[in-house]
Amino acid sequence: MKHTEIAKILSDRKLIGTETTVCGWVRTFRDSASVCFLELADGTSFTKLQVVIDKSAVKFDGECSRLGAAVAVTGELVKAYKGDGVELNATELRLLGKCPLEYPIQKKRTTLEFLRSIPHLRLRTNTFNAVFKVRSVAAQAVHRYFHERGYYYVNTPIITASDCEGAGEMFRVTTASWNAKASSEEEYFKNDFFSQRAGLSVSGQLEGEVAATAFSKIYTFGPSFRAEKSNTTRHLSEFWHIEPEVAFAELPDIIEIAEDMIKYLIRAVMEECPEEMTFFDNFMEKGLKDKLNHVLNSDFAVCEYSEAIDILKKAKADFKFLAEWGADLQTEHEKYLTEQVFKKPVFVTNYPKQIKSFYMKQNADGKTVAATDLLVPGIGEIIGCSEREADYDKLVSAMKERGMNLDSYAQYLDLRRFGSVPHSGFGLGFERFVMYVTGVENIRDVTLFPRWVGNIM
Ligand code: 4AD
Ligand code: MG
Repeated sequence: MKHTEIAKILSDRKLIGTETTVCGWVRTFRDSASVCFLELADGTSFTKLQVVIDKSAVKFDGECSRLGAAVAVTGELVKAYKGDGVELNATELRLLGKCPLEYPIQKKRTTLEFLRSIPHLRLRTNTFNAVFKVRSVAAQAVHRYFHERGYYYVNTPIITASDCEGAGEMFRVTTASWNAKASSEEEYFKNDFFSQRAGLSVSGQLEGEVAATAFSKIYTFGPSFRAEKSNTTRHLSEFWHIEPEVAFAELPDIIEIAEDMIKYLIRAVMEECPEEMTFFDNFMEKGLKDKLNHVLNSDFAVCEYSEAIDILKKAKADFKFLAEWGADLQTEHEKYLTEQVFKKPVFVTNYPKQIKSFYMKQNADGKTVAATDLLVPGIGEIIGCSEREADYDKLVSAMKERGMNLDSYAQYLDLRRFGSVPHSGFGLGFERFVMYVTGVENIRDVTLFPRWVGNIM
């Protein structure tokens, strides 16, 4: 269909005075004695286009004025009566798709909770338009960031036989019938599609390391799957994961990269989505833009895990879980550190080895590993990061301690046999990043069709 997108109309002053056709969905309709006003959205811009209809000159189907109706409007683009925008003086309205009264998006501001029950329609609201613009801009910026710095973009397998995080949170991939007969677990998997147990990858890291020890600098950007039964505002069963892996990088090097990347992404979103960010600042998180500007203009904090435990023990806060050396930090601890103590993003470093994954570099103290989590106010962990253990014997002993099957990791171990180098990487949860920059508090509201335990709409 020949038409002009609203984003183009609003940004190109040369179109003023021309005749054009605009297609979109009716967002509001106001009627007065001689004229009526339609607000039209086509999703290409946050701002909608005002259409002015002179009732004595333009006859149109009443269905065109219903909320949610799809219409094509032809008319002359003129300077807006008020302000310095543009509006369309309609000469013809054509109904493309009618929208009956039961259309669920009626009020201007419906709750996010209600909108979660209509994931196929909620994208037509201002909030979701803004969220997905930011998400799209951030995704493009991720690729730009790494591409500009010479990283190879690699695609790691989604179906895998190895559980990278070793936490047993893999979804199984199978074609075996529900009542497949087998006398043992081994036989059951032998008869399955891949002749062994397979699942959806929780992380592309292990294959990312393979690529980084050939190409030096790589990143992945794809979905990861976690079968953890966490029913929280920051967990999904399917999320998007950005995982760079860098050869010849030690922990301080990768920390520098992570901070630089986060700032680059924030800058991109603020520059490319000014209207959306103002909207979030007004309606989602007061002071959001100041918060992000502060982040851009300051260094992230770095704090040893042991120091963090000391701080938490002395804290005058009512924690549900005790902070104890050797235990993992709970979300409440993470939030306290980043929100109350540092008041900005903080890298917590050198965690006890028993609470972290097998692949992390063992520190000289024999107790901790060269790992770091990046914690941010409002969310807690958004990045999991570490230097990888490059020493064959140490890696093997960490795997044995965890009772892992070394045969399944033969290729991974080979990387430590053939030209092993120090290397490091991290995983950024993309949805958590989008929450952070938009102020949206529930991860289910930054994902088209969120999946979590018991829910697959
Ligand atoms: O800390 P995680 O589990 O680390 C890894 O998977 C490493 N292999 C990454 C690496 O070093 N290449 O996950 C990394 C990040 C978390 O910090 C979090 O932001 C996100 O992935 N994440 C989730 N996001 C949404 N829902 C979930 N269930 C998530 N689990 C992890
Ligand atoms: Mg983690």
